[in-house]
Amino acid sequence: MEEGRSSVHGSWASRWTFILAATGSAVGLGNIWKFPYIAGENGGGAFVLVYLLCVVLVGVPVMMAEVMLGRMGRASPVNAMKKITRQVGLHGFWNGIGWLGVVGGLLILSYYAVIAGWALYYVVEMASGRLQGATPAEAAGTFAALLADPGRLVFLQSAFLGLTLLVVVAGVSRGLGTAVRVMMPLLFALLVVLLGFAARQGDWQAGWDFLFSFRADHLTGAGVLTALGHSFFTLSLGMGAIMAYGAYMPERASITGTVLTIAVLDTLVALMAGMAIFPIVFASPGMSPDAGPSLLFQTLPVVFGNMPGGLLFGSLFFFLVTIAAWSSSISLLEPGVAWMIESWRVNRVVANLVLGALAWLLGLGTVFSFNWWSGATLAGGTFFDWIDFFTSSLLLPLTGLFIAVFVGWLMRPGTVFAAMGDDPRPLLRAWHWVLAWICPVAIFAIFAVGLYNKFH
Ligand code: PFF
Repeated sequence: MEEGRSSVHGSWASRWTFILAATGSAVGLGNIWKFPYIAGENGGGAFVLVYLLCVVLVGVPVMMAEVMLGRMGRASPVNAMKKITRQVGLHGFWNGIGWLGVVGGLLILSYYAVIAGWALYYVVEMASGRLQGATPAEAAGTFAALLADPGRLVFLQSAFLGLTLLVVVAGVSRGLGTAVRVMMPLLFALLVVLLGFAARQGDWQAGWDFLFSFRADHLTGAGVLTALGHSFFTLSLGMGAIMAYGAYMPERASITGTVLTIAVLDTLVALMAGMAIFPIVFASPGMSPDAGPSLLFQTLPVVFGNMPGGLLFGSLFFFLVTIAAWSSSISLLEPGVAWMIESWRVNRVVANLVLGALAWLLGLGTVFSFNWWSGATLAGGTFFDWIDFFTSSLLLPLTGLFIAVFVGWLMRPGTVFAAMGDDPRPLLRAWHWVLAWICPVAIFAIFAVGLYNKFH
């Protein structure tokens, strides 16, 4: 193997495998569970617009930089950054980009597995037929009963983490490639079916207005920070995932085209999920769009419980939510595992067990946030609220800021352009300019306003 050309962990078979894997990472609970509910909490349309702007102006440029850094370093984020800072003669402080990624990935995985466990539960619950004909109140009752039962939540969290470990132990390129090739198109197809249902049975116009009509008065500084944080979260940025995946990318594939494809697919899934859910919410008495984290798990069971074929489609839908979460959680674990293999010289199994156990332990905090510790709040937020805020709204944008400054300002443009490959030079110049000027300013300004708003 030629030094620097491929990682010790292997590489994707083709550019398309990379696109599928990265889309698998990007499309997850963030799109189907989180986006609809934070859009709901932040008043809809104006929030969606800010989110889209963040994806285009900040998310896409930072993602291109992350893929580039990964491909240059050809190792786990920590060691890739070490190699690059040495190569370009910069201070070791910048290795922090890699460390933040690995640590942040594990933090997110800890609560991600808990929520994905809920989806797992609903696969069985829908298939059992118990939710057939459920009223909104009954569906809410089922969900409340689940959250009140820590034993069951820990079991589900453990099952989901087990699934994640299973794939990461086997090596990402082998297990994951096949799974996402089947599951991603299926997920799309099901969303289309759901959209059709929402159009027929729901209040389509109200849903549309809610998501796409601009009401600036609904937007707060904290809402803008949430939108920025979410654009990072949904594109899997700032957590080492995309950097780690970039390390396994073919040498000559176009980064611009690849990243744009991933971003478009990811955004499409989020908007489709929103349009599948909100028309139903508005058509169902007693349901409100600002239900928070429970939105997906209380509204969709009602939808499916009352549609022809709902038993099948309902369980299939939650199965696919689980799969979407699965292909994301793998990318949260992989950077840490790759780092451990490289730096501790342990094998994949040991690395998986150690990091899996860590994520599991930390995840208990999220489990208890919904029952035993639900009253133990700090400034109104539970453990789960805080770990979510800390990772999505602070860690991700901060790492993004560092990446933008590192690639936009500190690396020599010649080195950057050479590493980007054969994309048209004017395009790359425009990207570099946005990365150097727009991204840091936008991230910084949104940080300042958002934090001021949250704590005032
Ligand atoms: N992008 C994933 C989602 O939207 O659900 C979550 C995620 C995966 C975030 C991987 C960060 C990451 F590194």
